[in-house]
Amino acid sequence: ERLDNLSNRSRYVARSCKEIMDRYGEREDGLYFLTTANGMVYQTFCDMTTAGGGWTLVASVHENTHYGGCTVGDRWSSQQGNNANLPDGDGNWSNRNTFGTAEGATSDDFKTPGYYDIVAEDMSVWHVPNNFPLEHWNLAAILRYHTSNRFLRLYGGNLFELFKRYPVRYNVGSCSNRGPAVPIVYDHGDKESTKMLYGPNPRAEFEPGFITFRPINNERAAMAICSGVKPTGCNTETYCIGGGGYFREHNEQCGDFPAFDWDRLGMDQGWSASKEMREAAVLLFYR
Ligand code: G3P
Ligand code: CA
Ligand code: CA
Repeated sequence: ERLDNLSNRSRYVARSCKEIMDRYGEREDGLYFLTTANGMVYQTFCDMTTAGGGWTLVASVHENTHYGGCTVGDRWSSQQGNNANLPDGDGNWSNRNTFGTAEGATSDDFKTPGYYDIVAEDMSVWHVPNNFPLEHWNLAAILRYHTSNRFLRLYGGNLFELFKRYPVRYNVGSCSNRGPAVPIVYDHGDKESTKMLYGPNPRAEFEPGFITFRPINNERAAMAICSGVKPTGCNTETYCIGGGGYFREHNEQCGDFPAFDWDRLGMDQGWSASKEMREAAVLLFYR
C-alpha cells in the first residue's frame, strides 16, 4: 500500500513542493517528482509540515573530510586544489550543474535543478547528522530554521540568481563587502544553541539569529553561507560554508566547511566548531 501511495506521486506535475501541496493537497513529508520549466523531471524531498509546509530541498552541503584542502568531494568550493588561478573554484553556487541524490543528501553533496529553476521567496535550513536516513532527518536535525521576510524576491528568486549578484569568488571584494544577512525564525534550536555549535573564538565575531550570504574573509576569500549567524568579524572561514577556489591564509582552509577544524587539537576549542556541526550536512530548502 505504501508503494501504491508513493506511485500516485509520479503523476503530479509541479515545479516545487509548494505547488504539489497547493495543487494536489499533499501534506506528507517525503520524496516527490518535480518538473523544471523545460520539462526535466527529477526527484527530491519535500518538507510539507514545517511552518505551513511546501519546502523543497534544493541542495545539501556535505563535508567528507577536513583534511582535503579543496580536493575530491569539495563540490561547494573546489575539487581542483587551493588555487588563486581558479577564483570561482567549481562554480556550483552559480551554475546549472547538478549532482547527488535526495536519499544520499546527508552522505554526500546534493544539488537539484530546483536550485536554479524554482522561483521562491524564503529559505529553510536543516543541519542533519551525516548518513541519517531521510525519514529521520526532521527529528535528528541539530538546528532547523527558516526565513519569513520573502528576501529571495529581492535577489532573483533563488540562490542561483543571488550568487550571480554576489559571486562566490576569491578577490571579488573585501570583508566589508559581504552580501545580505537575513533574520531567521527557529524551528529547532535558538540563538544560544546556534552559538554553541561553532567554536569559542568565532562566537566573539558573529551575531546569531541570521543567515548571511557571500561573506569575505581577511584574505579576500569568498564563502557562500553563514548558517544561523551574521559575521561581525573577518575570520568567516571558521563558521561559514562553501567557497571560491582560493583561501590565501592556508591551503587547509579551502573546502566545503573551510576552516571549521582550524584548531586541530580538539573540536569545540579555539576556532574549531563543535563535533555536531562538523559532522552534519547542511540541507537547503526553498519556498
Ligand atoms: O581563521 C583563524 C585564524 O586566522 C586564526 O589565527 O593565529 O589565532 O590561529 P590564529
Ligand atoms: Ca562536499
Ligand atoms: Ca583567519
